[in-house]
Amino acid sequence: MSIRVKLAAVLCLAVCVTTISAGAIFVMLERRSLRAAEDGKVRLLVVNIKTMAAESQLARDPLMLLDYLSFLGRDRKEVSGVRVRFVGRWERVAGLPGARESGPVRTESVLVPAQGDSPEILVETDFSRRVLDESYAASFRAMARDLGRAGLALILAGVLISVPLGWSLTSRLVAIERSMEAIGAGEPSEAVPAHGSDEVARLARGLNAMAARLRELDEMKRTFVASVTHELRSPLFAIESYVKLLLKDSSSLSVEERRQLERVQGNAARLAHFVTSLLDMARIERGKLEYRPRPLDLASLVEDATLFLGSRAAEEGKTLAFTAAPGLPQVNADPDLITQVVTNLVSNAIKFTPCGGRVSVALRRDGRRLECCVTDTGRGIPPEALPRLFQPFARAGNAARTGGTGLGLSICKSIMEMHRGAIGVESVPGRGSRFHFTLPCREGG
Ligand SMILES: Nc1ncnc2c1ncn2[C@@H]1O[C@H](COP(=O)(O)OP(=O)(O)OP(=O)(O)O)[C@@H](O)[C@H]1O
Ligand SMILES: [Mg+2]
Repeated sequence: MSIRVKLAAVLCLAVCVTTISAGAIFVMLERRSLRAAEDGKVRLLVVNIKTMAAESQLARDPLMLLDYLSFLGRDRKEVSGVRVRFVGRWERVAGLPGARESGPVRTESVLVPAQGDSPEILVETDFSRRVLDESYAASFRAMARDLGRAGLALILAGVLISVPLGWSLTSRLVAIERSMEAIGAGEPSEAVPAHGSDEVARLARGLNAMAARLRELDEMKRTFVASVTHELRSPLFAIESYVKLLLKDSSSLSVEERRQLERVQGNAARLAHFVTSLLDMARIERGKLEYRPRPLDLASLVEDATLFLGSRAAEEGKTLAFTAAPGLPQVNADPDLITQVVTNLVSNAIKFTPCGGRVSVALRRDGRRLECCVTDTGRGIPPEALPRLFQPFARAGNAARTGGTGLGLSICKSIMEMHRGAIGVESVPGRGSRFHFTLPCREGG
């Protein structure tokens, strides 16, 4: 699980836990105040009864009190019975036995002492505990419902805020992760945002410094390779030309001298191939490889490049064949670069195919593209080597005791990218390989 998701989940969880805990504490406190409010209602009623009893005693009008009490007995559900005692005589005002309430009751008494010749009044009011409890429960339910709705709204808002918040907090980490991946892939990317003074900002600054240093070193390496290979080329070509000249006039040479000169020639040629490949690679990396595309008949170019290597294949006892579908359209490509690709693929196929094997080069149309396949019956390539095969200096385990720099295929790949083409391979160890590249057909071709 990514740190983004974890952070968003933790924030959501924190919002939920906080809301629920705050809600629980609020409910506990509110329960007490609801009880107090219900109690207050009863006490207020008792105070009203007392006031009414005092007024009725003052006005010497017992009916006034009796009217009020019978009104209470009728209209207030919580009042289940009222009894009044005037001049030592009890009178039931409301709540006939068994008529309204048979459950437990809370009885409140109000006593108005005798005043002069006005007699004492005692009022006993029964409050139904069931009705009081029901009223409390209804208030509690209403409060819990409102609280639940508010809590849900809060949790929803918390979740809606947590997700983008988690995303924005981790976006710098994700940028750092991407930058590190790019460095790992050998392409230090642009600097990641490093404002602020926290740990992540410090990490980003360190990474930016490292990426800048890597870019600097990479540039130094490219300049170094370019200048060294350039300097090596001239003396190497001089050696090659002088050896060629000496070998031309072979009459003055002994057999041993000739053999030695041929060895020098072979080694100089290998070194020249290495230097040329390195120089090509350096040019590609600096974007300085000459690329001059023009309308091209790919079939004849591939055929020429294949035929050029025919004599070498025959010398080594391998069959080299070329086929092309008729009427293929033209492509827009640089002939020298495409020749370089075909030459490398075909010479690889010859190099890694044993004597008596077969190499075939075939060209066909595939939709809006032309596809060239170089198939051989050689030793094949181990599957673990395939993913890195088109990277510089990649030589598979099968390349032991064969000459080569391991730069050919990576140059081919870069050339294909320049042409908006593609290159790939399938191989079965022990049975052979099939390298193929495609180029887009010319518009209207
Ligand atoms: N047809 C093939 N059959 C088997 N292995 C191959 C084939 N083509 C390429 N390879 C493997 O891929 C590696 C890379 O090939 P690449 O052309 O880049 O380098 P190279 O041929 O070794 O050297 P260079 O082309 O620079 O002379 C080879 O060393 C070899 O291990
Ligand atoms: Mg090669």
